[in-house]
Amino acid sequence: MIGKRERKPRRPIYPTPAGLIVSVDAKGKPNIITLGEIFNLSVKNPVWVGIAVRAANYSHQLIKEQGEFTVNLPTASMLSEVQGIGRCSGRDGIDKFARFNLTPLPSKFIKPPIIAQCPVNLECHVVGFHHAGDHDLFIGEVLLEHVDEDKSNADGERDESKLDPLIWLGSGFYRLGEKIGEHR
Ligand SMILES: Cc1cc2nc3c(=O)[nH]c(=O)nc-3n(C[C@H](O)[C@H](O)[C@H](O)COP(=O)(O)O)c2cc1C
Repeated sequence: MIGKRERKPRRPIYPTPAGLIVSVDAKGKPNIITLGEIFNLSVKNPVWVGIAVRAANYSHQLIKEQGEFTVNLPTASMLSEVQGIGRCSGRDGIDKFARFNLTPLPSKFIKPPIIAQCPVNLECHVVGFHHAGDHDLFIGEVLLEHVDEDKSNADGERDESKLDPLIWLGSGFYRLGEKIGEHR
């Protein structure tokens, strides 16, 4: 039998995808934040997602005030943008779309735009808010999901083998490995 060591827990559940969340100010100017704490909550009826944001971040204020955000799931090739966006604040007047050469595309139902370079984008409006320790949890109802044409089949279903998500685990970033099973 293998022995166990006790570890002081920190981000104990792994892995999580990195996400780019877009919110807007009262004038409609968009801002982007990198988040590792993004989750599925209610999966089908309704579809709800959770994002955990520190109160000190500018995006927290924008999402709280405007009640809307988009979740944009980057590819592993977007690692440097994901890291850069997570190291600067829109509060300092930085236009992160311009700084990181990302293209905003209009959402259909909400003001925050989606990010063209991310293969999957979710339009969300806030339906819940909870303090959650050192982060605050925003619950978003997903009003619409966009998928790149070349990563979906004719029925609009995602071709998961083409998404190439960026995975965050501990102090490192990873790509997905091989597919080893099926669950329907
Ligand atoms: C990989 C990564 C994951 C992050 N995850 C979170 C997170 O889940 N919640 C959070 O509030 N900040 C997270 N951050 C930090 C924010 O992205 C960072 O504080 C950012 O500068 C805030 O931008 P803003 O002030 O424009 O909103 C993460 C940063 C990186 C690089």
